[in-house]
Amino acid sequence: MSKVNFEHLFTPLQVGPMRVPNRICETTNTINSSMMPGRLDKHFIEHHGAKARGGTGWIGSETWLLNSPFPPETPDEIGLSVGFASHFGAYQDPAFGEDMAKFCDEVHCSGSVAVVQLTHLNSVWAPSPVPVLGVQDYTPHVLGEQEIEFCLNTYADGAEVAKNSGVDAIEIHCAHETLAYSFLSPVTNRRTDQWGGGPEQRVRFVLEALKRIRRRVGDSIALGIRIAGTEFRKDGYDNMEMREMLYAIAEAGLLDFVDIDAGHCWGAPSYVPNSYYAHAQFREFGQAAMADLAEISPRPAVLFSGRINDPVLAEELIRDGVCDLVGMVRAGIADPEFANKAREGRLSEIRRCIGCTRCIDEASEPKTFPYTPTCSINPVIGKELLWEEQYKLADTPKHVVVVGGGIAGCEAARVAAMRGHKVTLLEQGKRLGGQLLIAAKAPGRDDFEDQAYFEENEMARLGVDVQLQTTADIDAINALSPDAVVIATGSTPRVPNDTPGIDLPHVVQGWDVMQGKATTGDRVAIISMEDYYETPCVAEYLTEQGKQVEVFSKSVHLGSDIARYSIGMVLKHMEQCGVKMHPNLMLNEVKADSVELVSSWGDASYSKEGFDSIVLVCGSVPQHDLYDQLKAQGNIEQVYVAGSAWLPRHLAEASSHGASIGLVI
Ligand SMILES: Cc1cc2nc3c(=O)[nH]c(=O)nc-3n(C[C@H](O)[C@H](O)[C@H](O)COP(=O)(O)OP(=O)(O)OC[C@H]3O[C@@H](n4cnc5c(N)ncnc54)[C@H](O)[C@@H]3O)c2cc1C
Ligand SMILES: Cc1cc2nc3c(=O)[nH]c(=O)nc-3n(C[C@H](O)[C@H](O)[C@H](O)COP(=O)(O)O)c2cc1C
Repeated sequence: MSKVNFEHLFTPLQVGPMRVPNRICETTNTINSSMMPGRLDKHFIEHHGAKARGGTGWIGSETWLLNSPFPPETPDEIGLSVGFASHFGAYQDPAFGEDMAKFCDEVHCSGSVAVVQLTHLNSVWAPSPVPVLGVQDYTPHVLGEQEIEFCLNTYADGAEVAKNSGVDAIEIHCAHETLAYSFLSPVTNRRTDQWGGGPEQRVRFVLEALKRIRRRVGDSIALGIRIAGTEFRKDGYDNMEMREMLYAIAEAGLLDFVDIDAGHCWGAPSYVPNSYYAHAQFREFGQAAMADLAEISPRPAVLFSGRINDPVLAEELIRDGVCDLVGMVRAGIADPEFANKAREGRLSEIRRCIGCTRCIDEASEPKTFPYTPTCSINPVIGKELLWEEQYKLADTPKHVVVVGGGIAGCEAARVAAMRGHKVTLLEQGKRLGGQLLIAAKAPGRDDFEDQAYFEENEMARLGVDVQLQTTADIDAINALSPDAVVIATGSTPRVPNDTPGIDLPHVVQGWDVMQGKATTGDRVAIISMEDYYETPCVAEYLTEQGKQVEVFSKSVHLGSDIARYSIGMVLKHMEQCGVKMHPNLMLNEVKADSVELVSSWGDASYSKEGFDSIVLVCGSVPQHDLYDQLKAQGNIEQVYVAGSAWLPRHLAEASSHGASIGLVI
């Protein structure tokens, strides 16, 4: 493969007193990789350290929540339940500083720099009595002068611990729904005292925090802020006002860098934008900052983030003057080694983030207990130490036959082949990818296909014998004389067979529509008995075809299994597509000219007319017949079932199941 010349990306940059070895930054991402609350354990060191070893120059790891000015007698329930504020910040425990020192050593050993973000969240304390966003509807306590003083000093306290631990830079979190952000925002800062007013007055809190940090830790450590390029909020600051505020802060001469992003914790866009958003969509915010700050000497470095998953794009952004440093968080979750691979010209080996947001969804609303960080496509995430322990070359290479080239089968094949097994992969379709390829057909989801490309490249690199358009049966498997077989034949759409009228000709399956195996008329009713992404995908796909779509879903809202960080983006997209949503309804019967529905919670029934087609999205049914047959036959030593062939869930479950099988064969 031809080598891309990364003239800019791998050039070191001096940021104040800190020399960043290249321009690739893991901006702070609180993925909760430590298994010990309040400590930074070996899992944390391994998770973020892997990115440093993988060539990322700037390691922002996870945010430090600062302690809030609670009256001593107040219970700490807020800190315990949602982590928004507490009497005590983890950084105040001397053991935490010792952990951080070990982590900094690890990062420095790889030649990278360690950056700490200091955060006060603001749903409890705020400049004015304005709820954070629609999601937190309680009104925060208004900070008095003494409490402001307390908060400002905690930034300096945190910075001191960070400096003593060997950290290279400190960033004050002034974006998202943090306290510093709420001082900057005209919506949440309505104060009429010295802390409120026009843009130049509202920066005072941030400036004061920067001053206190500088006073405490001196000039040997780089100092910066994270700030959103615009608010995306009614009456919030726009990019012009943000530029005014940023200039006023930078003019004070305390900033070595500014880290610019866009989006809120919730809503659309979230600051962890999903695949609906273009790569580096809000790049003009970086570009504007570069131009404005050029007037300040020395010019603070500009870091820009937002769905940058490709080192070639990162190189272009620097070349084109969008920024000096590129934030690439999920790029490093999907593939911690992507930077080294890029530098070595191994671009086709990079697993690119598909923008599914499972990482942030899991971090904000864990589905697992005990919680582990999760990535849909990288099965090692959250299990780094386990992999280190378990991954070894096979003692005796075996012939492994994998049936099914969805993500579960591909991951089983990839890991088995990496370990030295001879692998044959049988796939009935024309391409690898399985359901990923269906999902990729929905508007704004073409990145899902990147994972199919990755698997195709890996199969070729690892010498897996991929036999496409080959439907395996038990004879075909036996004919290959395998030592081990993995059945990863996926799932097929569920038909609610007990529903009267379900066989009528105008009733079709959503997956079939997306694959071009079925067509619909112009007026479509989607019956959704699935709460994740399949329904939005089918609805968006149909509206792109010009259909009028109404969704009848069983739950309180469509996509109710999608976590709060991401659901806003999905529902906004549905609105933009003109999809009408009817929650809390179950299908009772399909008639030639109506659908009969019943309330999900009561007995009320409804009849809806005016649809040409009824499209079903009712989940899927595991396909494990081949596994059952092989087990019954009993002549093959190792037989496994993987992914949705076992239990239809989501990508992360399928990929990690397949990979785990590859690990133990
Ligand atoms: C529209 C849509 C959107 C989705 N969106 C998301 C999302 O946003 N996030 C998420 O986490 N999950 C999502 N999912 C679910 C996710 O895609 C699946 O959980 C995952 O891809 C399942 O992978 P798998 O390998 O287990 O099965 P599959 O992808 O179903 O792969 C099975 C493969 O086996 C092949 N096969 C079957 N029988 C044979 C045979 N006898 N011989 C040879 N080959 C055979 C099939 O052709 C197929 O390629 C979505 C699914 C759909 C349909
Ligand atoms: C799991 C996760 C946790 C995050 N936590 C934080 C955080 O604590 N502070 C912060 O400023 N940004 C946080 N972010 C946002 C990232 O720093 C980054 O801006 C965002 O992921 C977009 O960049 P990307 O497209 O390169 O991933 C988080 C992102 C993820 C995925």
